[in-house]
Amino acid sequence: MADARRRVARLLGATDTEIVFTGGGSEADTLAIRGSALAARSRGHGDQVITQVTEHPAVLEACRSLTADGFTVTQLPVDSHGQVDPADLEAAITDRTVLVSVMTANSETGTLQLIQELATIAHNHGAFLHTDAAQAVGKIPLNVTELGVDLLTVVGHKMYAPKGIGCLYVRSGTTIQPIVHGATQEGGLRAGTENVALIVALGVAADLAATELAAATIRDVLHEELDRLLPGVIQLNGHPRDRLPNTLNLSFEGVAGKALLAATPQLAASTGSACHEGVDSPSAVLTAMGLSSDRALAAVRLSCGRWTTTGQAHQAADLLAASYKAMNQT
Ligand SMILES: Cc1ncc(COP(=O)(O)O)c(C=O)c1O
Repeated sequence: MADARRRVARLLGATDTEIVFTGGGSEADTLAIRGSALAARSRGHGDQVITQVTEHPAVLEACRSLTADGFTVTQLPVDSHGQVDPADLEAAITDRTVLVSVMTANSETGTLQLIQELATIAHNHGAFLHTDAAQAVGKIPLNVTELGVDLLTVVGHKMYAPKGIGCLYVRSGTTIQPIVHGATQEGGLRAGTENVALIVALGVAADLAATELAAATIRDVLHEELDRLLPGVIQLNGHPRDRLPNTLNLSFEGVAGKALLAATPQLAASTGSACHEGVDSPSAVLTAMGLSSDRALAAVRLSCGRWTTTGQAHQAADLLAASYKAMNQT
């Protein structure tokens, strides 16, 4: 466990004692949000938390739970690329704000948030900054000191570790209390007998991630090929530049994304994030970006894995283009 803690800390530029292992991302988010908000308030520091509209439910629901404890929760909007405008945080933050929680990268579009700027604003007002980095860890270089964050969530299964393991980076000196009470494991922040096997797996995954960060090349081949095969049909959803190198969220003019994927069973992809699979309504992430319901329903979220090849990107583009053309003939 000590070795795994060292490996995870090294991936994030943290020190070993700042890593708290948890049973996955939802628990790490809840510990960050409830743990820091309740600890701050018990010291009389305030009663407002600020988050943003395209967060994962683990963050949105943890924030919402605080309303029952008397907190005010403010949700910032995003622009058409899915980014929070730091000026909106500046306008919303008050001396009662104890925590700002904004994800590093969005699950559905890959859009990156301006975390450094948001952290500076939070700190200028005496608030902590939490970022859910589930989608970003292991894909882009991340350093907690450069980012300036106080709390950062890592989710094992997003970086090739098993499901059911994650961790929270807690900057030394951050006031936070446990949400799982009991004995003194994990520096008193997460009681319970440790799942050593999964912790070791997360450590190994962290080491491998450090040497195999994602490259945008193959994702871009897929994008260019689709554009070539289906001219004028696809529109990119998300930030054209500031986004994860493996993610490609596209709307296909005039078809339902779900039907397009159903017609392409050779491809493992989803219309939104896997966590919301099975939901037929337009993606809340895309509609929060101001996309019409039709364009949001036409969206497909494609992502490349660590072992995806250029040949597979060509094959995927061919398959999707063939399905699209067949659907438009009938
Ligand atoms: C951004 C983000 N945060 C949190 C989670 C929740 O993690 P877990 O399923 O390990 O609780 C996920 C999905 O797994 C996610 O994509």
